[in-house]
Amino acid sequence: MIVTIDGPAGAGKSSISRQVAERLGFEFLDTGAMYRAVAWAVLRQNRELTDESVVADVASKIDIDLSGGRVLVDGVDATDEIRSPDVTQATRYAASNVAVRMHLVELQQQFGREKDLVTEGRDQGTVVFPHAECKIFLTASPEERARRRVADLATRGVSAEYDDILAQQNRRDEEDSSRTVGPLRKADDAVELCTDGMTPEEVIQRLIDIVEERRVSL
Ligand code: DC
Repeated sequence: MIVTIDGPAGAGKSSISRQVAERLGFEFLDTGAMYRAVAWAVLRQNRELTDESVVADVASKIDIDLSGGRVLVDGVDATDEIRSPDVTQATRYAASNVAVRMHLVELQQQFGREKDLVTEGRDQGTVVFPHAECKIFLTASPEERARRRVADLATRGVSAEYDDILAQQNRRDEEDSSRTVGPLRKADDAVELCTDGMTPEEVIQRLIDIVEERRVSL
C-alpha cells in the first residue's frame, strides 16, 4: 500500500509523516530531503547552482541514502546541513530542474516498489504515485504555519520575526505552486486535512484513521 502526503512547507508534514509510517510499520520516504541533498552536493562541490546542466549532472552522479532516518550523500552525513537556510534557499534550483525531477521521481518510484510506504512531498499523489491507494493533502493556514515555524526555531535557540518568516513562506508557496514541473497541487482523489488548531498527536491519529479506513475498503 502506498500512502502519499503532500502539502505546503511548514504544515508539519515531515515529522508527522515519519511518525505515521512508524506506527503503521510502513517504510518512510522524505522526498524533500532528496531535493535538498542535490542542492547540498552542488554547493559542497563548489559548482554553479544556476547552471541547469551542472545541477542535473550532480544529481545523476550522487548516491543518496535515506536509511535509518539520516541523509547520507556519497557516504557523508548531511542530515543537519540540508536543513540550513543556505541549502533551503538553494534547493529551488534542484526542484525546478526538469532532469533532476525525472531522475528523483524514478528513484522514488523504485523505492515504492513492493513495499508498504508513506511518502511525503509536493507531487507524490499527482506525479510520482498517481495510483496510490491513499492520498492525503495536509495544509494549515499561512499564519498558523508561520507561527509554528517561529516556535520551532525558538526551541532551537534561533529567534525569528514572525513577519519575515511569513514573507519567506509566502515566497516558497508561490515558487512551489507555480513551478512548471511537479508543482504543489492537491490530487483530485486526495483527502484534504487542514491542521489549524490540531495538536501533532491529533493529526497523526487522524491520518492513521484515514489510512485504516482506506485499507479496509481495498
Ligand atoms: O519539504 P521540504 O521543505 O523539505 O522540501 C524542500 C524543497 O523541495 C521545497 O522547496 C519543495 C521541494 N520539493 C519538491 O519540489 N518536490 C517534492 N516532492 C518535495 C520537495
